[in-house]
Parts: sequence; structure tokens; C-alpha cells
Amino acid sequence: MKLGYIKAYVWLACVLVANVIVYTVVTLSRRPLSLQASGRAAFIGGHVRLWQPRDLRGLPLWELLMLSRDQLNKPMLQNTTAQLNLTLPGTCRESFHEASQSLADFSSYPGHLQAFVLSMHCRDYPLLVRPAEEEACPNGTQLLVAVKSQLANFDRRQAIRQTWGQTGQVGDVIVKTLFLLGRQDSGDGHPDLEALLELERQKNRDLLLWDFQDTFYNLSLKDILFLGWLRGHCPSAELIFLGDDDVFLRVDALVAYTGGLNAITRRGLFTGHVIRDAAPIHDCKHKYYIPKSFYQGTYPPYVGGGGILYSRDVATRLYEASCHLPLFPIDNIYLGICLRELGLVPQNHPGFWTFNMEAEGQEDLCAYKEFILVHHRTSQEIIRLWRSLHDPALAC
Ligand SMILES: *[C@@H]1O[C@H](CO)[C@@H](O)[C@H](O)[C@H]1NC(C)=O
Ligand SMILES: *[C@@H]1O[C@H](CO)[C@@H](O)[C@H](O)[C@H]1NC(C)=O
Ligand SMILES: *[C@@H]1O[C@H](CO)[C@@H](O)[C@H](O)[C@H]1NC(C)=O
Repeated sequence: MKLGYIKAYVWLACVLVANVIVYTVVTLSRRPLSLQASGRAAFIGGHVRLWQPRDLRGLPLWELLMLSRDQLNKPMLQNTTAQLNLTLPGTCRESFHEASQSLADFSSYPGHLQAFVLSMHCRDYPLLVRPAEEEACPNGTQLLVAVKSQLANFDRRQAIRQTWGQTGQVGDVIVKTLFLLGRQDSGDGHPDLEALLELERQKNRDLLLWDFQDTFYNLSLKDILFLGWLRGHCPSAELIFLGDDDVFLRVDALVAYTGGLNAITRRGLFTGHVIRDAAPIHDCKHKYYIPKSFYQGTYPPYVGGGGILYSRDVATRLYEASCHLPLFPIDNIYLGICLRELGLVPQNHPGFWTFNMEAEGQEDLCAYKEFILVHHRTSQEIIRLWRSLHDPALAC
């Protein structure tokens, strides 16, 4: 018994001494992090340097912002990004001018990307138009269909309302469609659609409109504003489809698919057409151009354009993850980044057809029966396809 105690004390003493030794070595070998680039030998003043300072000057902006976020939890990194004068403004009233100054090639960025960088710290935009709760989420809605549209695309919204976006019961699931909008101001050369908007709002009560400029590079913002809205609304909606206004969604096929899933799979759902191993396009003429000084490396797996189906559980977690992650200008990739942060991967579903079908495929209506989603359809094509698919003479 006594011997046992002594043994334990000796062990404890050894562990303590070992700790002190490790601490001493680490402290002596450590230098303050500097901005000096260095891949050189690891002997400084006779001590082994256990880690090398990183050259922050060469890092793309997005990665720097990630580092400055990490500073909060990792004291080792303290002051590193502060030395680059990169602090996100605390309010939406200020622009992120420090970024434009620290990016040598900022002036060569396309205008919409400059606008993105200058306001990428701001996510706080009020909801200007919203339906009453019982209209946004009638009768215990279980599937919420959120369509990203733009004010001027009135015809597309109307085509969706008349066809696949009809609100009501599909199978045994209650479905509600909402449209997500931002502003399109006359200052930016848009026609004044205020009166039309008011009419549409009164007639349909299915619009959510936030107070930000509805542009291509603000779509990530739209995604997270919607996720934020979802936290406080429509708790009965277990599943959410988020898509564009030029898709044809077969809600019946979607409901049939989700009905066959077990509870665990449903809860972890984030599915669509998955794209892997993509990398940023550094060609400045491309629609998805991302400058090297903004982001480098590869993209995490993400769900391509058209539409995504996810669960409320995943939506809540995505929202929480997004609060800690700098915005990214391409919406689908941003959601991929948020998923990666959560340690999740998107699941591919072959029924999400986000690229255009072959010309001959378009003629074959039975081929459409296989799909959940088809992308790049005009309003007229959506209505024709709907009619054809509901033609009793159609035999597949
Ligand atoms: C950061 O700002 C300080 C003071 O404005 C300036 O002296 C310093 O050179 C700046 N650092 C960089 C890397 O631009
Ligand atoms: C919701 O229920 C009410 C009353 O039961 C009914 O009048 C209304 O049409 C329903 N709305 C939808 C969208 O199903
Ligand atoms: C996004 O919206 C905000 C708020 O209206 C605006 O300041 C910013 O320039 C917009 N960004 C882009 C890329 O259009």
C-alpha cells in the first residue's frame, strides 16, 4: 500500500519535470511572429525553432480574414494580422477600405467584386417585405421551397406559382413556396418597380425582400439572410429546398424521395448536384473570376447551381457556422465552405440536373420523369413542361 503511494508520487514528479522541460524548450525556441518570409535554417541564437513564422503578405485576402478570425482562439497568432492593418469594420456604415489598401491589385478587380470586398463584413440587412407568419408558413408547412429571384423576374415567379411552385399539399406533405429578393434601385439603372412590387406583394403574399442590392455577388448574403430568417420562422418545416427561379422542380418526386429516407438521413440532409475538386477560376474574363489575391487553393465539395435540398437541422448549423466565416462571393461555394467548417459533406443526388440537358433529351418527356430538378428553363418552357408532364395521355 505504502509502496504504491510512493510509486505514484515518483510518477507525478517525473511528469511535472517533463512538463517543465518541454515548456522551457518551447519558450526559448520561440520568437515573436514576424512578417519576415523565411524558409531558412531553423537555428536562431542556438535554439531550435519549432515553428516558422508565415509570410502573411503573400496570403490571399480570404485566408487572411480566416487567420484573423482564428486569432481570437489562438494566442500564438495574436497581432499577426493586425500588423497588416486588417480589421473588419464594426458597422455596416463603414466600408472595408483597409482591404482595398492592402490588396495591391484591388483597382484591377471587376467593379462588382470591388463592391463585394468593400461590404463583405456586413450581414445586417433588415427585412423590408415579409408575409404574415400564417401566410409564410400556412397549416404546418413541412417543405419550404425558397426561390432566389430578382425583382424584375416577375414572369419567372408567376410561372413557378402557376406550375411546380403551387402551395398546398403534395402527397402527404404540405408545401409552401416563398421568393427571396433584394433591392434593385433606380440609382443602379434599374426601372422603378415599386408599384408592381406592391401589387405582387398584396396579391401573393409570398415575398421576402431584404434591404441590400440584389446582385450576383450578393447571393451568399441572400442565402445567409434566409438561413437567419428560418431560425425564427416556420418551425414545422423540416425540409427546405433552396433554388433559382429558372429551374423546374418536380415537387412530387422530391416528396417521394424524402419520404423514403430514415429519420437520421433526413436530419443530416444536404443534397443536390455535388461538384468536387473545383478550383477558383483566375481568368478575369470568366463569370466566376476570382483573383489570386482574393482566394487560392481548391474549393470544398459543394452543391452546384439550380437547387439544394437541406434539413432544418443542417440549416441551423450552417447559419451558426456562417457567422464565423468571411463571406465568399459565389453562393454555392460559400455554403460548401460552411459545410466543411461543420465537418459535413454534401450528398450527391443524380436527380438534380443542374446543367442543360442534351437537345434530344428535351424532347423525351419520359426522361423528365426521372428528374427532381432541371435547370435553365424559361418561364414558357416551365409552363409547357408542366402541362406535358400532367397530360393524361403521357405514358411512360
Ligand atoms: C499599418 O498602419 C500603420 C499606421 O497607419 C502603418 O505605419 C503601417 O505601415 C501599416 N502596415 C502595413 C503593412 O500597411
Ligand atoms: C389551410 O387550412 C385552412 C383551413 O383548414 C384552409 O382554408 C386553407 O386553404 C389551407 N391553406 C393551405 C395553403 O392549404
Ligand atoms: C451588396 O449589397 C450591399 C448593400 O446594399 C451593397 O453595399 C454592396 O455593394 C452589394 N455588393 C455587391 C457585390 O453588389
